[in-house]
Amino acid sequence: MCGIVGGVAERCVTEILIEGLKRLEYRGYDSAGLALLNKEQILRERRVGKVANLAEAVSEQHLTGNIGIAHTRWATHGKPTENNAHPHVSGNVAVVHNGIIENYQELKDELQALGYIFTSQTDTEVVAHLVNDALKQTDSLLEAVQKVTPRLKGAYALGIIHTEHADELITVREGSPLVIGVGIGENFISSDQLALLPVTNRFVYLEEGDIARLTRTSIEVFVNGERVDRPVKELDATVSNASKGEYKHFMLKEIYEQPEAIQQTISQALNGNNLREDFLQHANADFNKIQQVQIIACGTSYHAGMIAKYWFEQLIGVPCQVEIASEFRYRTPVIVENTLYICISQSGETADTLAALRETQKRAKANNINISTMTICNVATSSMVRETDHHLLTLAGPEIGVASTKAFTTQLAALMLLIIKIGQVKQRLAAAQLTEITEALWHCPKVILDTLQHNTAILRLSALFVEKNHCLFLGRGTHFPIALEGALKLKEISYIHAEGYAAGELKHGPLALVDNEMPVVILAPNDEMLDKLKSNMEEVQARGGELFVFADENSGIQEKDRQHVVHIPAVNEWLAPIVYSVPVQLLSYHVAVLRGTDVDQPRNLAKSVTVE
Ligand code: G6P
Repeated sequence: MCGIVGGVAERCVTEILIEGLKRLEYRGYDSAGLALLNKEQILRERRVGKVANLAEAVSEQHLTGNIGIAHTRWATHGKPTENNAHPHVSGNVAVVHNGIIENYQELKDELQALGYIFTSQTDTEVVAHLVNDALKQTDSLLEAVQKVTPRLKGAYALGIIHTEHADELITVREGSPLVIGVGIGENFISSDQLALLPVTNRFVYLEEGDIARLTRTSIEVFVNGERVDRPVKELDATVSNASKGEYKHFMLKEIYEQPEAIQQTISQALNGNNLREDFLQHANADFNKIQQVQIIACGTSYHAGMIAKYWFEQLIGVPCQVEIASEFRYRTPVIVENTLYICISQSGETADTLAALRETQKRAKANNINISTMTICNVATSSMVRETDHHLLTLAGPEIGVASTKAFTTQLAALMLLIIKIGQVKQRLAAAQLTEITEALWHCPKVILDTLQHNTAILRLSALFVEKNHCLFLGRGTHFPIALEGALKLKEISYIHAEGYAAGELKHGPLALVDNEMPVVILAPNDEMLDKLKSNMEEVQARGGELFVFADENSGIQEKDRQHVVHIPAVNEWLAPIVYSVPVQLLSYHVAVLRGTDVDQPRNLAKSVTVE
């Protein structure tokens, strides 16, 4: 998704803006640009493609300035062309924008009638012209922006500069993330704090509707024209977290970080085989009351929710529904009293999940229905964390690869911790089961480490996928969502068409696709469904399909003609989906590398989908 970086400083900000944009590359984009103020002039450069193209152009022309805004654009309105790239300029105003201005056509018609000439197909350009127009009535850039924002419908974060206000940067947050980075004698903005980590670890998190004026030495935040205080928070993430280190790609690094990430996530909750007393303590009364759970999420996070549904119902007998946020938010679902609504989100900013949450809260309030809300999230400062009653953090560290890996497995670990907690509060979890699961949780990082030892074997298998056009993933029970996740990973980064299916559904359709060109990936943990799964494998083999099986070392499944097997270490049945995520991640990764795709930033995809 689009990214914003901006700064006002005594030093030249060009390099800071370029480095910031590079740090936002992981979010996905197709063009980049920046505008600097220098001697009351706007110096603008825009390029299609990578930030490196922009960096080259900027350095060739020696563009410098003490104040500037920069942007990576992920095309929504209009193709990825130089003219459509941000910043957009009108007169002396330059604007960068994340989000969507829904009523842009109406505003464009009005501005064109006033004589404004549009040079792009974007919705953003209306903002530049509107601010320019508002400056006819006021000398204050802040006031002009304050006049314009009530006219904009949709979600947006903005960075705005003006040649005659060469010491100030105006920024707006309305439905799209934006943080202010607080420096010493310099201040910055970004849509993602990661972009600013080289210059500061102190941040002001704007709230929806905030408009801020930044100078080198001051930050003023306004809501409806009134000054408000927003605290400065210090972040402990280190700059090194966002580098690839010895790995070729962030995705591979993040796959290998899973043992540690899971260890961190469970350590916050467990003391030996017991839950820490203070773990989600403030939620005890709410958990006691809840009768059911509704999970809302998108993408990989949705798959984590699907697994949790099995766990909630089988382990502690709490009914659980899971739904894709983009469906949930628009279908007017019945809001049921005493339901715990859980958002699962790596970023905590996904537009559909956030909108589904807000819609639920609004309707519960309007109808006086008692519900609780919770977020499972990897970003402590995110909108979802701030807007829900309770939250549980996945301590995975920043995840840069677009294809989610460690965020997913830590979500699973966090969900299991939550289920244990609710089970205890509601007295639905036997002591023996608590011990079994907590022991297995502690053991999980080691089993993942052992599974990672199969990397070379998986690399060898991946060579057999390179020429394929289609692939099936099959699993049963909690491994049905892992089959979906495996297929999602493979299609996201290798661009091979892949489908995940519940193995029991094989005969109801996908079997028709199986022939000797169809690789079929099987997830075969040692659970009570194993024999049924073996029958499904026979069905595939009988049709000439080639099997790639990730099987428990005690499953009895062995290599044979057109059946490749990687043996996964024995693991507790409840936690097996966490471990079986790893081989499907590695498989997708290696296939993608062999096919030469952009693994960390696959085409057309974004890390954090902050627009609809
Ligand atoms: C995008 C990302 C996925 C992610 C999904 C949901 O599609 O590419 O990796 O699973 O958004 O994101 P969230 O931050 O809400 O988990």
